[in-house]
Amino acid sequence: MRVTILGTGYVGLVTGAGLASVGHHVTCLDRDEEKIDRLRAGTLPFYEPDLETLLHAAGSRLTFAPSVLPIRSRLLSTLEAREALAHAEVIFLCVGTPSDMDGRADVRAIEGAVGTIRESFRKGTALVVTKSTVPVGTGEWIESLLSGSGATFEVVSNPEFLREGTAVQDTLNPDRILIGSETPHAVETMRALYQPLIGSRMIPFVVTDRLSAEMVKYAANAFLATKISFINEIANVCEHVGADVKEVARGIGLDPRIGPAFLNAGVGWGGSCFPKDLSELIGMAREYGTTPHLLEAVRDVNTAQRQRVVETLHARLGRLRGKTIALLGLAFKPGTDDLRDTPALPIAKGLLARGACVRSYDPQALTNARLSLFPGQLFPDAYAAVTGADAVVLLTEWPEFLGLDWERVRLAMRTPLIVDGRNALDRTVLLKLGFRYLGIGR
Ligand code: UGA
Repeated sequence: MRVTILGTGYVGLVTGAGLASVGHHVTCLDRDEEKIDRLRAGTLPFYEPDLETLLHAAGSRLTFAPSVLPIRSRLLSTLEAREALAHAEVIFLCVGTPSDMDGRADVRAIEGAVGTIRESFRKGTALVVTKSTVPVGTGEWIESLLSGSGATFEVVSNPEFLREGTAVQDTLNPDRILIGSETPHAVETMRALYQPLIGSRMIPFVVTDRLSAEMVKYAANAFLATKISFINEIANVCEHVGADVKEVARGIGLDPRIGPAFLNAGVGWGGSCFPKDLSELIGMAREYGTTPHLLEAVRDVNTAQRQRVVETLHARLGRLRGKTIALLGLAFKPGTDDLRDTPALPIAKGLLARGACVRSYDPQALTNARLSLFPGQLFPDAYAAVTGADAVVLLTEWPEFLGLDWERVRLAMRTPLIVDGRNALDRTVLLKLGFRYLGIGR
């Protein structure tokens, strides 16, 4: 099938490459011309494992084009974009919906993308599919923006559940495909689109009404964030009563009603999705007059969790002024160079505010750290970062850190204190090496 994707970020690029790799003809559009030029030259705009291989598998079935260009101080859609849209059987909206000043989803990029579709598609029928996470009711709004254009549009919700760091695997092996539409023709077109990817596998193809599909996305992310904040709160109690939260998580996770995933206590959740989606869900609930007590608590626990690391260091080292703290890992999780809403940022700021000197290293996120002026000093490797440190704090559980020569780390440090902010290191080994080890909830 011919597919056009508006928005070539994480979701758009991985979705486009995934669909092209199973035989569809896909054009990925983006308003960032520089990004398109780099993609055409074979350079990835972000770090994501296996994405390069997927792009190879997609081959010439995947093409890139700028969606708009500045012409006489206005942004006008390009001829390539118009053609790709006019010939598409399925058009995906994969543009960003970041939080605005009030913490609500900013849907201006959706509005712009829909405008481009409207301009390009003047007759015939097209399927417009929202993969971006959009406030519940956005499908209806898009329909109203497209009405009266001369063409017929069916607007479908098809939320994305891929995770950064495993985006390719999540796209090729989804645990469900969710379609929000009440139109049989749209549902069948989406089924045909995904069939080559599903093959003979038993991947649930779930059809709901559009509003429910839009809501599923928010509810899924809010539930996962709730699980993490829950275990972090239990971790804090564990620290006081002397229990080990890792054992507790194992003990409760074996109950199939609870499940073991997303019960790793740590410095809290971050990234480009949980914070903004929870914020929008809270805003939506309030807008309709309900009080989202639980969701607000989930967010508060997460904010406090980040500062607990600073408090712990303060308690252990006495005054932080003049102390040197090494941060291992800046990305919000391993497998990505993404620093959006990473717990590392408020932690670094908190330490600096108390007069500490902060030295950081991350295997993939250093370029983004430099570009975003991440506070403190950045070092090209872990051993350089820990030199002279009074404490090392593990913030992202990159495999590289698990395999460090910890003897060498201890010798390089001023005082051998480790705060394992992800409960990922081998405590027994570290204690044997002479470290003082502090985990989260242990
Ligand atoms: C999340 C969801 O997991 C995806 O299903 C969803 O598609 C995506 O958001 C999205 O909305 O686009 P992602 O943000 O890539 O994916 O990352 P996660 O793997 O969910 O991790 C989020 C945060 O939770 C990270 O900071 C991670 O370190 C933290 N986390 C995760 C924990 O602290 N403990 C855990 O047990 C699991």
